[in-house]
Order: sequence, then C-alpha cells, then structure tokens
Amino acid sequence: ADHDLEEICDYLIRIAEQAGEIITSAKVTDVDFKKNSVDLVTEIDQAVEKFISTSLRERYPSFGFMGEETYKPGDILSDDPTFVVDPVDGTTNLVHGNPYVSISLGLTIKKIPHVGVVYNPFTKELFSGILGKGSFYTTNYGTAIQSQKARLPLRPPQPIGGLERCVVCVEWGSDRGPGGDYEVKTKTFARICRNKAENGGMSHGIRSLGSAALNLCGVAAGFLDIYWESGCWAWDVAAGWCILNEAQGSVVDANPGNWNPTVDGRRYLAVRGGEGQEEVIQQIWDCVEGKIAVG
Ligand code: IPD
Repeated sequence: ADHDLEEICDYLIRIAEQAGEIITSAKVTDVDFKKNSVDLVTEIDQAVEKFISTSLRERYPSFGFMGEETYKPGDILSDDPTFVVDPVDGTTNLVHGNPYVSISLGLTIKKIPHVGVVYNPFTKELFSGILGKGSFYTTNYGTAIQSQKARLPLRPPQPIGGLERCVVCVEWGSDRGPGGDYEVKTKTFARICRNKAENGGMSHGIRSLGSAALNLCGVAAGFLDIYWESGCWAWDVAAGWCILNEAQGSVVDANPGNWNPTVDGRRYLAVRGGEGQEEVIQQIWDCVEGKIAVG
C-alpha cells in the first residue's frame, strides 16, 4: 500500500509538540535504573511513551510500534510499517536539567527509515525528514522571531577534508562494563582526540552531548561532521537517520566491515554530506581498529 508520508510526518510533528508539553511541564522526581546505575529512566519517559503509542495506534491501527520503554529483549523490527519511538532521548540530560533532550519519532517500512521527526521541547527546535523529499529544520525561539523553516544541511556541504578537520561526536552510552564495547570506545576516543596528525592525532574537537537523535540531526545540519556510537538502539536512530540521509549524510556501521547496517544493528557511524565521506569513514575505522597509535 502507498502511504501518505507527508500526512504521517505532519501528524508526528503534532504528537511531538504535545509530548513536548508533557516533558517541559513535568518535574523529574522518580529516577529509576534499568540494566545498571547509569541507565536511567523516569516516570516521564513512561508517561510520554504511553501518550505517543496510544495516539499513533488510534490513528494508524495497522502499523507496528516499537518504543524504548515497552521493548522486550527478543523483539525485532519487522518489515511492516512500524513507528520506532524514543519518548525521551537524553534522559540523563533531563534528569540533570540539561536541555539537550529530544523526542524521536521514526517510521520504518521494510526496516528503512521513511519519516523522521526529532523535536527538542526545551529549545523548540524541530528536525523533520521524509524519504526522497528532503529534511528540514524549524526553529521557534521566543516570541520575537517567527518560526523559520530551512532545508538541511544548514550550510552548503564543504568537502570534509579528513578527520583532522572534523568535529566528532561520540557517546559513552550505558554499557560501561570492563572489556568488550567499553574498551573499544575508550581506545577509539583517545585516538580520535589526539592533537597532532603525526601522533595519529586527529579531529578539531570531540563532543559527547547526550542525545543520539539530536546528534544525528547535528550531523544533518552540518555543525557536527561525524557521530560515532557503538551500542545505541533502533529508537535512538530511526528518525535521525532519515533526516540525515535526506541531508546527503550517510550512516554506516560504526565498526569496519558493513556499509549498510540495519536499524537494529546497534553500531552507527554517521558522516555529514560533502566530498570525502569514504575517506573519513576509513580514518574512523582505523581508529576503531587501532591502526592509529594512542601513545
Ligand atoms: C541514550 C542517549 C545517549 C546514547 C545512548 C542512548 P536515552 O538514549 O541517546 O546519548 O549514548 O546510547 O541510549 O536512554 O536517553 O533514551
């Protein structure tokens, strides 16, 4: 069946704005922990997901739904049209009063992100994208400025020019046990942030901002060149992925080998649009694999 993606996108924007009101008017009181002491969840996350899933099921009863708070191990994304939702992306920021927080609403069809809406209810910045139709940034700060809508990327994409000229965003995520992914992350970050190319030193700067969805939008906008994370989930990336693709950015596997990860691959390397994407992806992979020395 053909779906009216523009209508769906408009509806997702309305839902995101309403969900945003719940988030900004709530007081964070009860903080709970999921798998460990750095994996936070609040009653707000749960209430917002409930509001979103109820609204979406009512309007699109035949579509699937996958949300962070109701996900159960073993659930997989199917080929059916599915809303992939993170009610609060950046829960740790919310708990600590940092406004880098978003609601991330994606629609996948055959596991490919077709619509993405990422909304920051504190700054009232909205990113939206539709497969094949472009992606947009709308801001509505204060009352003096009328809301403005601009096509992404916000700057014409300059050539990327190598990792040594990039601002790279990375996230620690909540998997911080010894070994495995955590070791890969610490070593990779150390390699990316050295300050001299001849030391294997790299990148204009390294950032860790706390919302995967907004990070992908930052790459789409062009103020981040790269975002690397190993360990985030489909709901963190589905919406931002669509927005980034429509801004000529690309998403590949965070670790070497796979140029086409799936939305449930859990390892993502996002690179902004512009000449030199393949070279910079290779440079990041060299950092992951330790082909670049730390000391
Ligand atoms: C998390 C944030 C964080 C990223 C984690 C995500 P949540 O989402 O996006 O930046 O590092 O991997 O799980 O838990 O705040 O929805």
